[in-house]
Amino acid sequence: MKMLGATVVPATSGSKTLKDATNEAIRDWINHPQNTHYIIGSVVGPHPYPDMVARLQSVISKEIKAQLKKHTGKLLPTHVIACVGGGSNAAGAFYHFIKEKKVSLVAVEAAGCGLQSGKSAATTQLGSTGVLHGSKSLLMQTADGQVVEPHSISAGLDYPGIGPLHANLFKTGRASFDSSTDDEAVKAAMNLCKKEGIIPALESAHALAQLNKMKFKKTDRVVVNLSGRGDKDLATYMKFL
Ligand SMILES: Cc1ncc(COP(=O)(O)O)c(C=O)c1O
Repeated sequence: MKMLGATVVPATSGSKTLKDATNEAIRDWINHPQNTHYIIGSVVGPHPYPDMVARLQSVISKEIKAQLKKHTGKLLPTHVIACVGGGSNAAGAFYHFIKEKKVSLVAVEAAGCGLQSGKSAATTQLGSTGVLHGSKSLLMQTADGQVVEPHSISAGLDYPGIGPLHANLFKTGRASFDSSTDDEAVKAAMNLCKKEGIIPALESAHALAQLNKMKFKKTDRVVVNLSGRGDKDLATYMKFL
């Protein structure tokens, strides 16, 4: 971002992670409404941002359709698997398939050190209805409504909520929600690296890890969304080598 000319201001409050950076961005925006425009990279925050981001990201499922048609002659995959932090890459990958009931949509959250470890970010498994960053959705919170500090090895999944679209997909059962631990994600990333020469982002590696937990038929057309590259995560990967 700096290389492209942006001034980067680190968030110094709270746990200094994604939740706190979002707090700081919204705080700056409401304090400087004359010269600041807020933008967000996930399907969270106040309306209309979740809707805008989902529509912009929907180019992913448009592209999936085009590539599937080209390579398999079929427009629809049987499964689409994507990781969920706030939920933007999953929203984009699911978008044009939501009404196609035959397409199985699989969202993968970060189980961190394990769902019951107290160090996790699997919002649908551990959360309840609440309001965070201006939208009502599912949220990891205490009985008093205080946000529970999430944990994930991947900075992008280290978020205590999910966007309202995903809360709806979860509630209606249109998408299934599962989770991968830090260790499962790193192993899946190493595997992709060895087999395909691709270093995936740690976030995407959570979706890849899901492949080991599902059974497929030979005729299935399974799409795993690689939401980003792993060069930003090399320092973390190196610790496991
Ligand atoms: C590469 C990558 N994938 C996924 C995510 C998770 O965000 P979202 O759930 O909005 O796609 C992030 C967040 O920073 C990311 O950097």
